[in-house]
Amino acid sequence: MKEIVIFNGSPRMDGNTATLLNLVAKGARDNGADVHFYTLFKMKFMACQSCFACRLKDDCVINDEVHEALQKVKTADGVVIGSPIYMMQMTGPVKNLYDRFFPLTDTEWRPRFGIKKMVAVYTQGMADPCLFESYFDYTAAMFPWFGFDLVETIVCTDANDPETAERDAALKIRAYEAGRMLALD
Ligand SMILES: Cc1cc2nc3c(=O)[nH]c(=O)nc-3n(C[C@H](O)[C@H](O)[C@H](O)COP(=O)(O)O)c2cc1C
Repeated sequence: MKEIVIFNGSPRMDGNTATLLNLVAKGARDNGADVHFYTLFKMKFMACQSCFACRLKDDCVINDEVHEALQKVKTADGVVIGSPIYMMQMTGPVKNLYDRFFPLTDTEWRPRFGIKKMVAVYTQGMADPCLFESYFDYTAAMFPWFGFDLVETIVCTDANDPETAERDAALKIRAYEAGRMLALD
C-alpha cells in the first residue's frame, strides 16, 4: 500500500487549495493508498532554528507537529504540497515547512530517505497560469535534495473566489487523477 503525505498551506479551510488537495487525497484513497493530510494553518510548529543538528543526524531536534509529519514524509511514497501564492511566493507556513525538511537531505544535498513522487498544487488570484511559472521552477530546484520527484504541478487561477476550483470540472479531474497516479505508480 502506498503512503501519501499531503500538506495544505492555505488558511482558508474550504478554499481552492483545500478543494484540490481533498481531491488528490480522494484519488489516492480510492486506489488503496494510505493518506496523511496535514493542514499547516491548524498546526503548532516552529520555524527552523538553524541548530544544524540535522547535519549530524537524520532528524530534527524540534519536537512539534511538523516533526511528527516529517517522520511520515521519511517513509512516504508520495508527497503533495499545496500553497496559495501570496506576494508572488508560497505562503509563510509552506516556506517554514520546506526549511524543516532540511533533515531529509544529507551534507552533500543527497536525499536521505529515497525517492518519492511529488505533486505541487498552487492557487493564485491572477488569471495567467504562466505568470509564476519561473517561480514554480525555481522552487522545484530544491525538490531533488529531499528526494522529491516532481511529476505534476497543478495551478488554479482566479482563485480569490473560494469556489473557483469547485466549478472547474477539468481541474478537479486532474487533481483526482494525480492522487490516483500516486497510489498506483
Ligand atoms: C496576502 C495575500 C497576498 C496575495 N498575493 C498574490 C499574488 O502575489 N499573486 C496572485 O496571483 N494572487 C495573490 N493572492 C491571492 C491568492 O493567491 C488567492 O486568493 C489564493 O490562492 C486562494 O487560495 P485558497 O482559496 O486556497 O485560499 C494573495 C492573497 C493574499 C491574501
